[in-house]
Amino acid sequence: MRRALARAARAIDGERRARGVAIDARARATTTTRTRTRDDGDGGRARARALATTPSREDDGRRGEIAIDRSGLRRALEGRARAGDAREEGTRGGLLGHLERAMKFAGGSIPVSEYVRECLTHPEYGYYMRDADVFGKKGDFVTSPEISQVFGELIGVWAALQYEALGSPDTLRIVEFGPGRGTLMADLLRGTRKFAKFRDAVSVHLIEVSPALRKTQAKTLRCGELETTAAEGNARFVSEINDAEVFWHDGLESVPRGPTLVICHEFFDALPVRQFQRTERGWCEKLITIDSEKADSLRLIELSPPSMTLWDALVDRIEKNSGAVLAIDYGEEGPLGNTLEAIKDHKFVHVLDSPGEADLSAYVDFGALRQIVEEKPQSGVKCYGPVTQQQLLLSLGLVPRLEKLVENASSEAQADELVQGCERLVGDGAGDPESGVAPGMGSRYKAIAMVSRGLPKPVGF
Ligand SMILES: C[S@@+](CC[C@H](N)C(=O)[O-])C[C@H]1O[C@@H](n2cnc3c(N)ncnc32)[C@H](O)[C@@H]1O
Repeated sequence: MRRALARAARAIDGERRARGVAIDARARATTTTRTRTRDDGDGGRARARALATTPSREDDGRRGEIAIDRSGLRRALEGRARAGDAREEGTRGGLLGHLERAMKFAGGSIPVSEYVRECLTHPEYGYYMRDADVFGKKGDFVTSPEISQVFGELIGVWAALQYEALGSPDTLRIVEFGPGRGTLMADLLRGTRKFAKFRDAVSVHLIEVSPALRKTQAKTLRCGELETTAAEGNARFVSEINDAEVFWHDGLESVPRGPTLVICHEFFDALPVRQFQRTERGWCEKLITIDSEKADSLRLIELSPPSMTLWDALVDRIEKNSGAVLAIDYGEEGPLGNTLEAIKDHKFVHVLDSPGEADLSAYVDFGALRQIVEEKPQSGVKCYGPVTQQQLLLSLGLVPRLEKLVENASSEAQADELVQGCERLVGDGAGDPESGVAPGMGSRYKAIAMVSRGLPKPVGF
């Protein structure tokens, strides 16, 4: 962690010297064009306001210095208190009460990463843990697999090609982190089911924190009703789509050994980030409290230790078992400034305004992920990318697949819908909120891959 922070700080300083710009200016520029390319009704306008920070706690040394955001959570708490339900258990107010207690317990404040983790995955009140469907038009955002079946089908092509590159082994674990509704995996299994050797080798391993989403995934994959959320090891589920066995896991550790393909789509952006502020007294971690002072920010960097730990574990996994990893997300080569944002009802909201009710996400630092692989040359694992989503999907045959689907479309309207979906996946346009045109995801979203020793460069990279 210390090494990662020092590396990011060095890189930022180097970058600033080289480019003559300040990181906070860069972060602002990034956020104005930034969109999670979801149906953000305000046309990808960046988050409402940046977190304000102020150094606090007069320490003698650098150790323990903190920068505390005192701006926003109080507003949410006050609003909730006015509504008279701030401490009501089992309601969304429950998360505010929980955060308040966590802050008191920690001496008044918590790191941004803890705030993000609690907001997204608190067992009772976390955003992803609710029964509400957060995906699609009626939810808060739309992701690529939900836009077009072609997305999951092409990831299936990628997986089948990697399987062949691995020498078509008798067993293949396909692991997906954060499968959402399970749509990508369903399209992947459907798209590859005619490929008999692949189909017979595959078992599916879903790593999902949300019991509610595990149930949705079971339905989408046609595994029948998932009665227990502790599905791992307890029962045998088989997808009617291609007869593959399906398992749910809490983490990578329990996925059985053997050749492995890993897919992470919009997963790394959901992992908590820590934010560090360069103040007059050096680098300080940003914390969140319920106090209400404010001050100007200087500079900010973001790190996601859980992303780095997971990427490191994935290198280890494919080194020992052979395989490949594909991650698609929005992000930069890094290092990053303040990219944390919140989306609710297809609009950006302040990250502190609706804890547990809005999706929180942050840009992925692809450079940091690649560096983890480069620091382990003895593993034999090779990392490729990031490349744009456009490049990846076009290389995998998006156009011929679309042509085929359009040919077989049952109506003009269906054909139009198919074309529009694919245009959005690989398009570059900024979108037009006035006329309801969503921004293209072609270059905003990027893919990074790694393959085990001896495997060729994967298609698309
Ligand atoms: C932004 S959604 C992406 C869903 C899906 N991949 C898609 O593209 O439609 C993030 C997913 O990651 C899951 N998730 C978030 N944090 C997680 C964690 N720490 N462990 C496992 N799953 C997590 C969420 O429940 C959700 O399924």
